Amino acid sequence: MKLHVYTPGQVELSASTALVLPRFEDVEQAWGDSLAEADAQAFESIIQDEGFKGKKAECYLLPTPSSRYRCVVLMGLGKFNAFDAEVLRRSAGEVCSAIKSHSIDHIVLDSTHAESLPVEAFIEGIILGGYDFSTYKAQPDTLPVKVNKISVVVANEAALPQLREGCARTAITCKNVNWARDLGNTPANGLTPKIMGEYAQGFANDTGMKCTLFDDAALTKEGMNGILSVSQGSSEEARLIVLEYTHPEAEQTLAIIGKGVTFDTGGISLKPGNGMHEMKFDMCGAAAVLGAMKTIGELKPKINVIGLVPAAENKTGAEAYVPGDIIKMYNGKTVEVHNTDAEGRMLLADALAYTEKTFAPDAIVNFATLTGACVVALGHYAAGVFSNDDPLVGELQLAAQASGERVWPLPLWDDYCKLVEGTHADICNIGPPGEAGAITAAAFLKNFVEKSRWAHVDIAGVAWGGKNISYQNPKHASGYGVRLITQWVLNESIQ
Ligand code: BES
Ligand code: MN
Ligand code: ZN
Repeated sequence: MKLHVYTPGQVELSASTALVLPRFEDVEQAWGDSLAEADAQAFESIIQDEGFKGKKAECYLLPTPSSRYRCVVLMGLGKFNAFDAEVLRRSAGEVCSAIKSHSIDHIVLDSTHAESLPVEAFIEGIILGGYDFSTYKAQPDTLPVKVNKISVVVANEAALPQLREGCARTAITCKNVNWARDLGNTPANGLTPKIMGEYAQGFANDTGMKCTLFDDAALTKEGMNGILSVSQGSSEEARLIVLEYTHPEAEQTLAIIGKGVTFDTGGISLKPGNGMHEMKFDMCGAAAVLGAMKTIGELKPKINVIGLVPAAENKTGAEAYVPGDIIKMYNGKTVEVHNTDAEGRMLLADALAYTEKTFAPDAIVNFATLTGACVVALGHYAAGVFSNDDPLVGELQLAAQASGERVWPLPLWDDYCKLVEGTHADICNIGPPGEAGAITAAAFLKNFVEKSRWAHVDIAGVAWGGKNISYQNPKHASGYGVRLITQWVLNESIQ
């Protein structure tokens, strides 16, 4: 995607340009400077006749055959006091749908008379809203003409350098959100743990970061039996992907870990058939971490970031682990398996303990499609966050606010930790059925972090399935986490 930020008069309009004009519902605004005089006059009457109000998510497209651009899109932003970046992101997503059949390859946002707009959010809505997944289709879902250029017109020349930097960062991040979505949408027969490792190695080479891939033999040598026991029911090998991004001026090291279950049948505690195909999305924590690491490798902030992905398939082969098995984990603790479908925590446990021991980072945050219970609690509009450190939750909430990728804190009191104590081993891999399943999963993980500041983000609800979000398709992976993690890392880096 080409990106330009200009002052009025510099932008080139063509017959394949859509000119987007933002309108608040309750603010008197002049038209943007790019609009032809004749169109401005036409608009005044059209607005009266058609009743365009500027409500949020309201879009009005006017073809303009006699102007230097193909069409104008009025983009409603709702009431001024209720406006935030997410409103703009979603309105931009609506613009994407409005222009779909209009042969547009260039979108120009004229914000000359709406000066305080967080234009980065507009770019996010356009790049994310324009995503489709046609890899496996004979005919792509969208028309061959695609938006490949976004221009933003602002009045304030002094703001240009900073805006250009911000917009460029946003475009890189969103490109990688769409890359992470591709990973999520790719089915299990196209994305095995081994292939995931190769993707990581690929962008590590491109961005100059270190990538270590642990195969079954290496995992055995390390004693990562949590990862291996989940993987042993599959003919595919497991992987632990370890990415190390370092900056010479860094003052902090952060670690991010993503659950990479490339398919979750439930194992011997088999899942019901209905909807099981959605378990190809069970690696969306991994996609978030890989997408964020790729972004960090491209943006090069002044901070160190370690990205880890324990990856495996949870299947029912002859060697599969079974309920009752007791596993000696990487940190030496023993786990009694009461349900082979609680596999994500088995992988994460080893990755958490390994991360703490090997890197002693300043903070560890893991992302996982961990529990159906979290979907029951929060639906598709916020991830659950659990932590042993309130300031870390604060940091994540700050990043969530800026990125629009919401997190909502849930408790991790000792009472819950007692619920995962083992009968024949130190820990049981599930808590009592029907009781705070998202929290007992977090309580399980807590056993594998000794002294680090740590947070667990359960993204089971937000990784796909969000309805009525214009820049997302509920049947596709959302790419959740890439923007949140990137924002957090940038906030924590030396500016
Ligand atoms: N990957 C699932 C969680 C999940 C379910 C994510 C639905 C998204 C949508 C996870 O591995 C799992 O199966 N969890 C079990 C845990 C239970 C056995 C304690 C669950 O949530 O049912
Ligand atoms: Mn499972
Ligand atoms: Zn799972």
